[in-house]
Amino acid sequence: MKIDLNEILYSVSSGLDAVEHELLNVRPGHCKRIAAMSIMLGKNLGLSPDELIDLAAFSILHDNALTEVNQEEIEYRKYNNGECYSVQDYNARRCIIGERNTKFMPFRTNNRDVLLLHHENADGSGPQGRTYDRTPIKAQIIHLADTIDNTYDLTSTNRENHGAIIYFVKSNAGRMFSREISDTFCKSFKMKHLVSLDVTHVDNYLRKATKHFNDEYSAQEVVNLATLLARIVDYKSHYTCKHSTGVAEKCAAMADFYNFSEEKRTKYYLAGALHDIGKLMISNTILQKPSKLNDYEYELMKQHAYYTYDILKHIKNKNMDDIVLWSSHHHEKLNGTGYPFGLKEDQLSHEERLMTCCDIYQALTEERAYKAGFPHEQAISIMREMVIKGEIDNNIVNAIDSVFSQNIKHNVPTTSILM
Ligand SMILES: [Fe+2]
Ligand SMILES: [Fe+2]
Ligand SMILES: [Fe+2]
Repeated sequence: MKIDLNEILYSVSSGLDAVEHELLNVRPGHCKRIAAMSIMLGKNLGLSPDELIDLAAFSILHDNALTEVNQEEIEYRKYNNGECYSVQDYNARRCIIGERNTKFMPFRTNNRDVLLLHHENADGSGPQGRTYDRTPIKAQIIHLADTIDNTYDLTSTNRENHGAIIYFVKSNAGRMFSREISDTFCKSFKMKHLVSLDVTHVDNYLRKATKHFNDEYSAQEVVNLATLLARIVDYKSHYTCKHSTGVAEKCAAMADFYNFSEEKRTKYYLAGALHDIGKLMISNTILQKPSKLNDYEYELMKQHAYYTYDILKHIKNKNMDDIVLWSSHHHEKLNGTGYPFGLKEDQLSHEERLMTCCDIYQALTEERAYKAGFPHEQAISIMREMVIKGEIDNNIVNAIDSVFSQNIKHNVPTTSILM
């Protein structure tokens, strides 16, 4: 299947930023600015075009493990009298898990240990104690860009920041950053680069610097990408920690039932994995609320479907257009009572209706922290009541009943991320 990997990552970066903003207080556009700054520096350090494309992808994904480590820490607190991870442990876990999650991603160049070591200091005082000569260059570049963006507000161009940044990097040469990286940065980072980083320019800079590459990826490679993104969403809340991957697997099983082509099946899996990506924009106080949501909170929660659309619509890639619709219409109902757009029967394709049903079936049958999953028969009977109300498609419910009642092992490609 042909996809533009970086294009997908640039689009989902706003969701990743929202998570980093909530948990680490970074500013909007953080991931893209790191990608842009890394490219600026990487070019001057002589990295190849393929390495620059990967560097941008890794910059976007530099904190992919944040939601997962956050859940891990919540568990840790439960068993350690409310004590949190130390800052060192928290940072080290983000690097270790972030590295593991990207191990099977389809990148162009060798990126071993880039995320594992992206918090290391040149003098060896970072979480893994590695000095610059034992740290990959891409990890060192991301470390510098991440540190600058965490220290200075670059969302709009403040010309005074230019001198301050150069002074900061110079005075940390040999300590946080290697002398080679510091020197190259200070010589090459001009005022025009600072301007390119502000919110109105960064998108343009990034897309120009890494052009569009519609590469051919195998079904397994797309599944690995989809699973990584689904895990980021699923770990946002411990109530739904297997939901997106479960929906993606239901999508693949139903794609087999309807004899979708291999390419369409892979795309459908990806759409299932991404359907709730908008939840990255919803606050944890709502997603993790242990009691029932009040009306206002429920309205906020419902916005996730619109955010899924808002995040994915930025993917400038024709081959992804139907994925955007399949993903973001998963709460629409045939009688027009769904959200976010209140679409009706004649506006909803078979694939969009099927996604809604896969989502409902998965939500009903999955185990959550506060409930056991409903057995198949009970889930189907709840879905039949929804058919009677005119909400979902009767034929699709029958198909889901026949596929999942048999408990067949479906040929769903799974990722080896956790092995
Ligand atoms: Fe960061
Ligand atoms: Fe949803
Ligand atoms: Fe969902």
